[in-house]
Amino acid sequence: MGTAVDIFDPKAYAKVRLPAMEAETLPAWCYTSQDFYDREVDRIFMKVWNFIGRADRIPNAGDYFTLEFVGVPIIVVRDAMGELRAYSNSCRHRGTLLVEGEGTCKAFKCPYHSWVYSLEGRLLSAPEMHLTQNFDPSQYGLVPIRLETWDGFLFVNFDPDSNSLKDYLGDLPVKLDSYDFSQMVCVRRKEYELPCNWKVYVENAMEALHVPTVHRRTIQKQKREINPPERPDGEYVILYTKHEGSRALLEGDTGFPRIETLVGRPAEGSYYPLLYPSTMFGCTIDCMWYLELRPQGPTRTTLIVGSCFPKKTAERPDFKEVVTRYYKRWDLSIPEDNAISELQQRGLQSPWGAPGRFSHLEPLVHTIGNWVLDHVVGPPV
Ligand code: FES
Repeated sequence: MGTAVDIFDPKAYAKVRLPAMEAETLPAWCYTSQDFYDREVDRIFMKVWNFIGRADRIPNAGDYFTLEFVGVPIIVVRDAMGELRAYSNSCRHRGTLLVEGEGTCKAFKCPYHSWVYSLEGRLLSAPEMHLTQNFDPSQYGLVPIRLETWDGFLFVNFDPDSNSLKDYLGDLPVKLDSYDFSQMVCVRRKEYELPCNWKVYVENAMEALHVPTVHRRTIQKQKREINPPERPDGEYVILYTKHEGSRALLEGDTGFPRIETLVGRPAEGSYYPLLYPSTMFGCTIDCMWYLELRPQGPTRTTLIVGSCFPKKTAERPDFKEVVTRYYKRWDLSIPEDNAISELQQRGLQSPWGAPGRFSHLEPLVHTIGNWVLDHVVGPPV
């Protein structure tokens, strides 16, 4: 990259802004630069609804889990009344991380000097504070973070002024309504640490051009007909493919019955939405899987893959045995995507990299790059 380039100057992206068949790819610095990443955190991840998993991970009062999202430590808990809440995971005394991992508790007790907080975030006790002038415990509760849900999916938003999750999703819940996600359970979460930028992973997932090469030994054998992307009315893009059978199995394997409620397009194929910026679902005729990304820096990302089935399916006596066929498919195909993403990132690190061009089978890669630019550098000039 030339040192003279101002990476926040919209003019630097004039060729990315052209129609897809005339456009260039994003410059490599968008995937490698700490400055570009920091601006993405400020202008994207700190402003939007970020997916953080499923509510069925914490089914009972007092169940909690913790995570760090773009550097923000978070506690997610189900309170005594069964409400879901999220807090900054930071003690109001001197800032210590209150709790790590996941579990069940009646209250949160700081490991440093034992301040105790209720599940509703109230400060319940604070030892040796009786001589402290004007100390009002009611002013020192845990700092809440906005949390909203859609059919069992949990989202947090760090911007108090942002629109609701419902507005953000637009018509996506209607389009995917017949999957009946609220009646699903997540039966497995699997984490991967990826040495790549979050966009590398998203872009790969949202184009089918790579399937015959990257997945030649696995899901390439599935017959597929990729339809042009549907026009979204919300902060997402979506791919649809019409096919027979389940897309969560390898060819030749048999699995569970169909989701009983499916109607319309979901009954005849699979939907693959990307909810901006980085949440992806695979919705097929018998189950769904999610790809939850947590950016960790310009060249590091955590991937969590969640496998979700209708409760009725998960309660079948043969569930444990048959689900291994689904795990086999994911455990083969996902590492294939991970490996190619690492190779792409290593290539992008080259100081001699230069922008490329798109084929007609990568329209969403162009769309996603332009969405990122809209937020990071502003509208085209
Ligand atoms: Fe938590 Fe002191 S930092 S009690």
